[in-house]
Amino acid sequence: MKASLLIALLAFVSSSAQAAGAAPQKAEVCAACHGADFNTPISEDIPRLAGQYPDYLARALADYKSGARKNPLMGSQAEGLSGQDIEELSAYISTLPGSLVIIPLHRLIR
Ligand code: HEC
Repeated sequence: MKASLLIALLAFVSSSAQAAGAAPQKAEVCAACHGADFNTPISEDIPRLAGQYPDYLARALADYKSGARKNPLMGSQAEGLSGQDIEELSAYISTLPGSLVIIPLHRLIR
């Protein structure tokens, strides 16, 4: 009983380690625009992504894929991504050190 639980746990751990391992490779195509560190995009109309919340990234990618969020560049990037790709990329990019900050609303609206 205990042994089978341990085996199941090990299988889970190794499959998540593999998932994390594939993300940097999958992210190479994205780096062409968003920057290798995802914090230095190649132009100012391309957003910084490093350190962004993973659920935000996943939602954005899912919306580009479904067409709910429209952008010609990102639409074509997202259409080939599977649900698993979206999860892995979002988890990976969110762990990268970035310079995104939360600006309190009272500093935006005066
Ligand atoms: C050809 C350039 C290009 C490539 C390649 C590219 N992106 Fe983007 N990305 C953009 C642009 C431009 C935007 C802003 C689009 C908009 O205004 O909605 C964007 C926006 C995003 C957003 C939304 C960010 C936000 O703050 O709302 C995410 C998430 C994202 N990209 C992830 C990716 C991922 C993951 C890949 C690789 C699979 C990728 N991008 C590849 C140009 C690119």
